[in-house]
Amino acid sequence: MATTLTVLHPKGGVGRSTTVYMLGAELALRGHRVALIDRDQGRHLTRVFDFYPPGLDDLVLGEDPSAIIRIVDTAPEVNGDRAIGYLQEANWALVPVKGPEAGSVLALPLLLDWLEQARGARLLGFLPTMYKSRRGDSRQWLDELERLAATTGTRVFSPIGDLASLATFRLEAHPYAALAAAVEEVLVAAPV
Ligand SMILES: Nc1ncnc2c1ncn2[C@@H]1O[C@H](COP(=O)(O)OP(=O)(O)OP(=O)(O)O)[C@@H](O)[C@H]1O
Ligand SMILES: [Mg+2]
Repeated sequence: MATTLTVLHPKGGVGRSTTVYMLGAELALRGHRVALIDRDQGRHLTRVFDFYPPGLDDLVLGEDPSAIIRIVDTAPEVNGDRAIGYLQEANWALVPVKGPEAGSVLALPLLLDWLEQARGARLLGFLPTMYKSRRGDSRQWLDELERLAATTGTRVFSPIGDLASLATFRLEAHPYAALAAAVEEVLVAAPV
């Protein structure tokens, strides 16, 4: 049985699909067989995957019986019942937080409420994306995110910078290795 990691956040454009693609690629490069599941009706991940095929034998789009990890991409979700449905099918939830900035952080209590109601997925952590270290309020919202993580009993992963190479889905020198190592530890070394 594959472990399912669902990537979600109530807002759009926070870096979900990029995270699914890059994390999947990094885990596949480490020798794990990974299935990327596109649950966004907009099918943006599918289009990107077809246009920029990662070219890794162990990274497939769609269900795959030999995958040990399923990474699920979702649409921006404001419907609680649907979000809870996703979470009930997941072992782990990973939450990309763009910025961090006000809009991405302030939506998190809603997501935490869904997680509690779902009583299924465990929260792997918050992943700051498109981080601009020189922007003053990014630092402030990162601190806020750390506080929220501490009260929730989860972690904040090292921020993924705001990088043009990620927007063009280039795998060289992408910054997802640290996240992959953490995911590998939890998902592979100690599957649910
Ligand atoms: N770390 C990053 N640095 C620079 N650009 C990024 C980064 N991560 C994502 N992007 C870009 O930001 C935009 C939104 O990212 P992405 O599509 O991954 O988010 P999403 O949450 O899946 O959005 P949607 O709501 O459309 O599904 C895209 O143009 C993507 O290329
Ligand atoms: Mg997306």
